[in-house]
Amino acid sequence: MKIVVSVGGSVLARDLSHGRFRGYAAALSEISKKNTVFVVTGGGKAAREYIKVARELGADESTCDLIGIELTRLNARLLIAALGDAAYYEPPLNYKEARNAGLTGKIVVMGGVTPGQTTDAVSAVLAEYTGADLLINATSIDGVYTSDPKRNRDARKFDSMTPRQLIEIVMKTDMVAGANSPTDLLAAKIIERSNIRTIVLNGEEPQNIVDSVSGKYCGTVIEK
Ligand code: UTP
Repeated sequence: MKIVVSVGGSVLARDLSHGRFRGYAAALSEISKKNTVFVVTGGGKAAREYIKVARELGADESTCDLIGIELTRLNARLLIAALGDAAYYEPPLNYKEARNAGLTGKIVVMGGVTPGQTTDAVSAVLAEYTGADLLINATSIDGVYTSDPKRNRDARKFDSMTPRQLIEIVMKTDMVAGANSPTDLLAAKIIERSNIRTIVLNGEEPQNIVDSVSGKYCGTVIEK
């Protein structure tokens, strides 16, 4: 299988410890034994802190995004360091470079590409462009809920859902500032238009990624 794994910065680099990167490297190496693997890393706390300071300095939003992209690439570089020889040597800057890098048979790790979106969208486009069989979104919650479970105690988790349902949930969540959306709207629309089989799972434990590929663990499966 060809698999794109989106690793949220909040789970990969929340506290910027080498252990987190090592844990992820082990899980990704494991699934790369039988699959072609692409990884997109998020920016996490450091990206938010840099963006906050840039805003305070009067930077425009695109400049803030470009700073965020740099941080996602730094996390990609750390993960590449943890993967060693198993990884392509540097984060591709765009989708074409990523696809070409994938031909080497190495694990390709990249960050963001362009302002106005997040790495959720990058991973969905990369999955579409490389013809991936599966997109895994490793995040800080264990699946997609009817509403934000961190704000609403009545929120119910979906075991499976359609891309259309995902779009509806994301549009509802997006309207509340600071809400924990399971993915961004652009990503949800790309998942829908290409019917990309997607699993949203709890990335706090990297082994969940290995288990979801082997069918032992599942957060929320999104497919038509
Ligand atoms: P993330 O993908 O990590 O954002 O990108 P996020 O979803 O807000 O954070 P976590 O990690 O899941 O908690 C960090 C920032 O980088 C910029 C955006 O500003 C984003 O908020 N970015 C990232 C882009 O502008 N374009 C990209 O393609 C990727």
